[in-house]
Amino acid sequence: MSARYFPVPGRHDGRVYVITGGAEGIGRTCAERFAEEGAQVMVADVNPAGQDVADAIGGAFRQTDMADPDQVRALAAATVERFGRIDIWHNNAFSAVFKPIHDQTLDEFDAITGVGIRGYWMGAKAAVEQMRAQGGKGVIVNTASVQSFVGEKGFSAYQATKGAVLAMTRSLAVDHAPDIRAVALAPGLILTRAVEAIPQDVMDEVLDGIPAGRGADPREVASLAAFVASDEADYMSGTAVILDGAYLAIG
Ligand SMILES: NC(=O)c1ccc[n+]([C@@H]2O[C@H](COP(=O)([O-])OP(=O)(O)OC[C@H]3O[C@@H](n4cnc5c(N)ncnc54)[C@H](O)[C@@H]3O)[C@@H](O)[C@H]2O)c1
Repeated sequence: MSARYFPVPGRHDGRVYVITGGAEGIGRTCAERFAEEGAQVMVADVNPAGQDVADAIGGAFRQTDMADPDQVRALAAATVERFGRIDIWHNNAFSAVFKPIHDQTLDEFDAITGVGIRGYWMGAKAAVEQMRAQGGKGVIVNTASVQSFVGEKGFSAYQATKGAVLAMTRSLAVDHAPDIRAVALAPGLILTRAVEAIPQDVMDEVLDGIPAGRGADPREVASLAAFVASDEADYMSGTAVILDGAYLAIG
């Protein structure tokens, strides 16, 4: 049975939501879901196609390279200028070349971690500073991965990044409780452009390792993001929520 989607109208009314990597995939779907639930959405992406996403949902777009500190600070400033505040900051942007360590270059490692660790940290820093300045509550959502928990062949830099995201999420939660919550999402196989390039024989093998027997629609991640960022999840912080069709359960 496939998933069904139940956006909750008004759940994020009046909130300002920033999504990085919002031009495509999980980020795009989250932008759409938060707008549907009432949020004012700032879409950030290095890809100018993020403008189309923003236009379609009545949000705003800021072209941003999440590896560039000045651009990350400018994203936060542009969000406050446009919408007056930041309530939810969702670090999600990603670019990666998957290789074992002996084939990976240091430049590739720096590029992967530059977006996935440094970029997440800079995003969280900009968000926390603004949330503290506005004296209110806030939520930081960090897209991690099942790769945060397991070792798989050819993923050393990516897995180092996703492991760091979990540690950072815990630290943010402890530092800023009870005002600011931090929650990581740990998706398994999500059917976005990032996995479209996987050859069919490899995909068959991947699917063999997922008891649910399928990859997930990005809307399933958006449903989770909208919940963890909501007041219904007010006691949820410093943790990761896994969405993986029992992939990790079989060890
Ligand atoms: N697809 C999966 O199976 C899967 C599984 C687990 C975790 N994730 C995580 O979910 C998140 C989103 O992945 P996706 O599958 O939607 O990927 P995607 O490739 O569809 O989208 C990633 C987006 O990030 C943007 N981006 C890349 N570099 C950037 C930069 N420097 N600054 C700003 N934006 C940048 C891209 O332009 C793109 O729009 C990532 O953090 C990824 O690690 C994905």
